[in-house]
Formats: sequence, C-alpha cells, structure tokens
Amino acid sequence: MSTFDPGFLWGAATSSYQIEGAVTEDGRGPSIWDTFAATPGAVRGGDTGAVAADHYHRFPGDVALMAELGLRAYRFSLAWPRIQPTGSGPANQRGLDFYRRLTDTLLDHGIQPWPTLYHWDLPQPLEDAGGWPVRDTAERFAEYAALTHEALGDRVTHWTTLNEPWCSAFLGYGTGRHAPGRREPAAAVRAAHHLLLGHGLAAEALRDSARVGITLNLTHVTPLSADPADLDAARRIDGMQNRLFLDPLLRGSYPVDVLADLHEVTAFGHVHDGDLKRIGALPDHLGINYYAPMLVAGGTTPAQSAYVGSPLVRIADGGRPRTAMGWEIDERGLLELLLRLRADYPAVPLYITENGAAFDDVMERDGVHDTDRIAYLDGHLRSCARAIGHGVPLRGYFVWSLLDNFEWSFGYGPRFGIVHVDYATQRRTPKDSAHWYAEVIRRGGL
Ligand code: BGC
Repeated sequence: MSTFDPGFLWGAATSSYQIEGAVTEDGRGPSIWDTFAATPGAVRGGDTGAVAADHYHRFPGDVALMAELGLRAYRFSLAWPRIQPTGSGPANQRGLDFYRRLTDTLLDHGIQPWPTLYHWDLPQPLEDAGGWPVRDTAERFAEYAALTHEALGDRVTHWTTLNEPWCSAFLGYGTGRHAPGRREPAAAVRAAHHLLLGHGLAAEALRDSARVGITLNLTHVTPLSADPADLDAARRIDGMQNRLFLDPLLRGSYPVDVLADLHEVTAFGHVHDGDLKRIGALPDHLGINYYAPMLVAGGTTPAQSAYVGSPLVRIADGGRPRTAMGWEIDERGLLELLLRLRADYPAVPLYITENGAAFDDVMERDGVHDTDRIAYLDGHLRSCARAIGHGVPLRGYFVWSLLDNFEWSFGYGPRFGIVHVDYATQRRTPKDSAHWYAEVIRRGGL
C-alpha cells in the first residue's frame, strides 16, 4: 500500500466559468469567455457557460457532497467580472458575497478553501483595452487581487494567482482556440510576460497574511529519437511549455535559448527593469496541472501550432492508450516531471492542483462505472507516492474535476468529473471514481 503523510492535502478542483452559470446575476459583467462562446464556430455545439453546472445556485449541496466524500480542500476560482464587473474600479459587493458564502460553507464543513484568482475569465472591457498583451492588465489584476484579499483574507490561507498562464497566452492569443480567440504570436509572448508580472504584483498584494502560489500546466517532454532535429524540437517545446514560466518564477530570469528561439517574434522590449525581480520572488508553493506527457519530433512543414517561434515541431504518437480528449495516458511522465523539478529548481512546496481524465462515461441504472478513470487516478497517485519517496516536496493532490463541466472549446461533451452532472436536471451522481477517491482519502493512501 502507498501511504501519504497524514497532513497530505486531498482535494478536488473546478473553475468559475466551467461550473457556476448565472453569468448575468448579481452584477457580474461579461468575460472574454462569454463573448468567445457566443461567437459562431468557437465552441463545439455552440455550448456556453451560461448555465453550466448551476453551481452558483447549488453550491450548498455541492459543498455537502464534498464533505460526504471527505475532501480536505476544494480548489475553485473566483470570477473576476463578478468582483469587478468592468475589470477596474470598486468591488461589487454582491459578487464578493457569493465567494464569502462559499468559503464560509466550506469552512463550516471543515474543507479548506483554495481559491485561484484567475482561471481565464478576463472582464471583457479589459480585453477591449488590449487584454493581457498590454501591461496595464497586470496592474488591474493586482488591484483586483487586493480587493479580493481585503474581503476574503480572513478566511483564506492559500491563494493561487493564475491558472495555467501558458493557456491564457498561447491558446488565447496564439492559436485562438481559447478566448479571446486572437492569432497574434507576438501578442501571445507579451501576454505570457504580463501574466507573470500580474502574478508578481498580485502576490505582493496577497502575501502579508497568506501563502501565495501559482499553477502551471507542466509536462514531461521527450524527443522521439536521438536525431538532432528531434532533440532540438524537445528542447524548444520544453522551453515554451515549461521553462518560459518556471525560470522567471523560480530563477528570476528568462531562459536564454527560449529568448533566442523567439527573437524573430519579439525582441522582449516589453520586459521592463525590475519586472523579473517581482516575478521571481519565490512563490510559497507551486501548483502543477499534469495530464499527459509529450513526445516530440522535428517537423518539416510549418504547422499552425501553439508553439510560437517553433513552427517545425511535430507532436509524435507514443502509442499509449488515450483518454476521450485523445491525450496519451502515462503516469511515468508525472514522476519524471516531479523528479526534474526537484533536480533543476529551488525546493518550494508542490501541489498537484489538477490531474484527471475525460472518458466516455455511461450512466447506467446503478451509476457510472468509470473503471478507466479509477485506473488513471490510481496510476498517477502512485507516481506521486514514488516522487515523495524520492524526496520531492509534494504536499497535496487535487483531482480534476469534482463535477462534469464546460470543457472550454469542447463544450459539454468531455466529462472530467468524479461526480456526474445531468445537465437537463442538474442532478449530481457520484461516479465509482468518487467512491474510490473517498476511500483513498479515508485510508490516507492507495
Ligand atoms: C484547465 C481546466 C481544463 C482541464 C482539462 C486544464 O488545462 O485548467 O480548466 O478543464 O485542463 O482540459
């Protein structure tokens, strides 16, 4: 049996736009995801987050369910446009009240609230003013962090500033597959920097009374072969996906090879003196979202890719089973990633803030028998246990996701929840994986 330390934090995660619904209630302003989802062809089936899992109205029941499962922590995000409907100016008290009620309900049930300030729902007026590619958005983000801290700082001990700035920058402004749907490589690189700067500035506003971290989507990258073109492709993808974020945050500098890869895209004139010092103030914890490893090869034809500055790179097939998202399943990638973080970067406490899988769940008369999801989670938790055995300072694990939800440009098709949501009735049914996870938590191990 793999056991975890008794203090290991067992949780589950969600995000505001993916579950809340109620997009016009209590003064919430529009976000870039409301606009993007309303754009024909942007989201599969024309789905939007307007109702989602209706968590805004159903949170008391959802928290009671979390308590039944024995969760020790719940990672959720705050919708910036609920708190500042236009992205600047005074706080909307009704928006803050919702998050006060949610955190109080969690605390009443003995569940630690783990809020993330930004999981992609930028207030639309800030995008209209230029979005993350402009520096002012980072300043606005710090202001929003300060307002939120003032309202919830007495209840929250662990804050996360951003969720996956790579996605915000390179899917939002590079490929355009995420909101706001722009395809401007130089803007994507500027966005990445301003997101990091926003993290640094927000952390200063939050830090006095709490621990502050950031969540990155990291992966384990391997070259297809020892061919120099494949080795170079792996270096580039590792640079764009991992080191472009890890190095400024944990070493206070951008990786020189990545700056060189990007030199035709931008000369990095948007980086001001002092920025890297603020970005590089060590976070109190680092959140890692891990789903799949990447096997990469040198390509021959330029492809439209999220990897700005590296057009001649191809993602190869590792030949492993895949989830319903088409992502390869390989828990060893998580172990390798954790060992690499320990070897290459200063030791900060680590948390897996997302890990999970979409499968084609079938609701039967007696529930959802998602053995494939159980196998996925079990394998990845074994990697966590092994990493801890090797001295990796891993302190907690959050399943993605508590509930089936709006899977961004894929709409409601993919189901990541350990709890099934019937979108017609909003009925919640814990899947077999939820019962299995409850038992893991109860026993403190596998
Ligand atoms: C995001 C989630 C998303 C999940 C599965 C992560 O990139 O943080 O919002 O649902 O992956 O795609």
